[in-house]
Amino acid sequence: MPQRDADGLQPRGYMSGFGNEFASEAEPGTLPVGQNSPQRVAHGLYAEQLSGTAFTAPRAQNRRSWLYRIRPAAMHGAFEPFAQPRLHDDFGDGPVSPDQLRWSPMPLPETPVDFVEGLYTVAGNGSPAAQTGIGVRLYAANAPMRGRYFYSADGEQLIVPQQGRLRIATELGVLDVAPQEIAVIPRGVRFRVELPDGPSRGYVCENFGALLRLPDLGPIGANGLANPRDFLTPQAAYEDVDGEFELIAKFQGHLWRAEIGHSPLDVVGWHGNYAPYKYDLRRFNTIGSISFDHPDPSIFLVLTSPSDTPGVGNLDFVIFPPRWLVAQHTFRPPWFHRNVASEFMGLVHGVYDAKADGFAPGGCSLHNCMTGHGPDAATFEKASAADLSKPDVVTDTMAFMFESRAVIRPTRQAIEAAHRQRDYQACWAGLRRHFSPPRG
Ligand SMILES: [Fe+2]
Repeated sequence: MPQRDADGLQPRGYMSGFGNEFASEAEPGTLPVGQNSPQRVAHGLYAEQLSGTAFTAPRAQNRRSWLYRIRPAAMHGAFEPFAQPRLHDDFGDGPVSPDQLRWSPMPLPETPVDFVEGLYTVAGNGSPAAQTGIGVRLYAANAPMRGRYFYSADGEQLIVPQQGRLRIATELGVLDVAPQEIAVIPRGVRFRVELPDGPSRGYVCENFGALLRLPDLGPIGANGLANPRDFLTPQAAYEDVDGEFELIAKFQGHLWRAEIGHSPLDVVGWHGNYAPYKYDLRRFNTIGSISFDHPDPSIFLVLTSPSDTPGVGNLDFVIFPPRWLVAQHTFRPPWFHRNVASEFMGLVHGVYDAKADGFAPGGCSLHNCMTGHGPDAATFEKASAADLSKPDVVTDTMAFMFESRAVIRPTRQAIEAAHRQRDYQACWAGLRRHFSPPRG
């Protein structure tokens, strides 16, 4: 096991924009002017390209960055399997129940557990091999990663902290991420997670499909929803540390470990458009009804990973933030519904307006393709009697949804988990029969 910790990397600020061509150097004169890979790189560094899309992807989708680093990424020992059985992409291909499912928050660990050890697969679909689908995880951790670095070759990591801040030190710089913010770590980027607040918990969606992007806005126009300028990419930061460290790779759904004699966070400067970023969900510009009827939740779409069918998401990341509810002649919470898409929901903060209780911050629910769901009995009764002459302001909440075109298959460990609410369906049992046919 690694004995020596690496230096603590400090954040060096952020650059604003989504998918921009960024350039950042932690030492002056690092980045070449002109060609990407000169024969001799400044300061004795190595040049290395990190490609996140096919070389020939259309320019608008093409993502790559050039890293100028102390040692190339090829330098490490041979990989061997790394035992962390709670993290995998084995979603099964047998029968899957159409039940509505809900879980209470996953308990925090009582022994030291770092971010990688604390990842737990709840559900997923597709596979890294097929380059489509998602892996839905929870994490619960109480210890920083010490002498350990992680990357996934399988997909980008959309990280949604619920309790405790994360300091994510990546090859391309350091992200400080608090609850109600999200971070996206691109496929292949190596990182270490520290926990400034101690015990921490949250959600991760690994996206095996096309890279997350901002959705088109259509009739909304040029502004609204998540604005590009609110996405923040870290300035370059590096550590120059030798030691007995380990590199953990997620590769085709399972973890591997290799010894590495130096910190891989040794990129002194980089330029390109393939980089980690973070976003504060409270910056989201909410669009909603100001006349009547409840719009579909696509108005709350933050980021989307498109599938090969136009308008159909491999992964849609949707939030339910504080907002005004104004509609007249309208049941304001979401009506009962069934969707062709499948919905995994989580709650970062506060209370979700369609459930009176049982859906706690840190908990989650899964409503799969064509499974009926909607407000619980208490919410239905309250909303049916609401005074619609007055607007209602929803405050102090942040719920989200990982939505996918394909059924999100719960894992065996999630079905068998002690924190699964086996009486979830009871939340609708109290919906009374109100039918009163007209008497002729
Ligand atoms: Fe739903």
